[in-house]
Amino acid sequence: MSARIPGFYKLSLAQRHTILAEKFKLTPQELSYLSDGNGLTWQIADKMVENCIGTIALPVGLGLNFLINGKDYVVPMAVEEPSIIAAVSNMAKLTRADGGFETNCDAGEMISQIQVVDIEDQTLAQSIILSKSQEIIDLANQVYPSLKQRGGGATRLEVRLFESPYKMLVVHLIVDCLDAMGANAVNAMAEGVAPLIEKLSGGKVYLRILSNLADLRLARAKCKVAESSLGTGALSGEDVARGIVEAYRFAYVDPYRAATHNKGIMNGIDAVGVATGNDWRGIEAGAHAYAARSGVYRSLTTWYRKDGYLHGEIELPLAVATVGGSTQVHPTLKVLRKLLNVESAKELAGVMASVGLAQNMGALNALATEGIQRGHMSLHARSVALAVGAQVHEVDALAEALIDAKEIKESYARELLAKWRENR
Ligand code: MEV
Repeated sequence: MSARIPGFYKLSLAQRHTILAEKFKLTPQELSYLSDGNGLTWQIADKMVENCIGTIALPVGLGLNFLINGKDYVVPMAVEEPSIIAAVSNMAKLTRADGGFETNCDAGEMISQIQVVDIEDQTLAQSIILSKSQEIIDLANQVYPSLKQRGGGATRLEVRLFESPYKMLVVHLIVDCLDAMGANAVNAMAEGVAPLIEKLSGGKVYLRILSNLADLRLARAKCKVAESSLGTGALSGEDVARGIVEAYRFAYVDPYRAATHNKGIMNGIDAVGVATGNDWRGIEAGAHAYAARSGVYRSLTTWYRKDGYLHGEIELPLAVATVGGSTQVHPTLKVLRKLLNVESAKELAGVMASVGLAQNMGALNALATEGIQRGHMSLHARSVALAVGAQVHEVDALAEALIDAKEIKESYARELLAKWRENR
């Protein structure tokens, strides 16, 4: 199955659905979940959250052209911001000539934290807890047996001591959550072993909860692009590559820039997270905490030049799942999973890391050359047209008129639309 669907963006929605139906054997009902935004009925939604009053829809598009570890992917992305899906698709296309993306992702190990205070001799408590590691691990696996039965579960334990400014001992129980995100399992285990830890340490347990800094569950992706393929009319490929590397260095040295740089990366990763029913707040928390692991908040990607190629790499925690949570409940998510066609959480994490890297390359490529405003203009003009109430058949013409007049403003759009309607 090829991830290349040339000219996809030029087709009507109906034509795109015809292609999807053929390529992925989607039923009319599955297609209707996509077009109506009705996959999640409010009756199901009411079972998911409290005080439910309805649902809200988001655009879903396909990131195309992804070749990852030799396999082609079309990547569903749910996001309201224009340009993101176009940028990743363009960058993924550029990388294909040089083998696409290569990924390397850790197993699904999560950290369960148990906080203990009021311990007189923390070093002694630490050694007692460590000497009883196996007992604690066995208890955790009794509390939540299904992971161990499937080849995962609690596997080891670490004890961390804090002395200042606040004294506490923190147990890390490491749990292999396999293809689940693992929040339920990890939290249940933390609560289950807490009384034993209290007894062993002689202290008082307060918090028992997973850590979103899932740094045992890292996803890595890398790609390379021939510099010659990066040239624009005005700039040579080398100039563009140099600009991208300088942009990366900026995000390495300056947290003010790194925040924006990483936000761009998360534009892509979150969009896949939402489209696959994953906890994107957890992913965000993990990514930013990891970016600050050295004590300075830095870029999640690295870009360098070597032998005529621009090389890019990304590494971040991705605690994502292909089982459990809303992935099983939301009918539209099931259709999107069928399109993405990943078998495991590790495979999904590799796709997401590749999308984040592609997104970053797209942003830096634009920023290092013509800036992002020009590329954004037509999409921005369309958003303005929609915002002032243009109907579907009026949007493109109104957007064009705004661009021609160099007045992409709501006040002007409103005026123009009213005039057109009057004349009609
Ligand atoms: C906008 O949503 C994302 C960018 O600001 C990312 C970046 O500056 O690298 C374009």
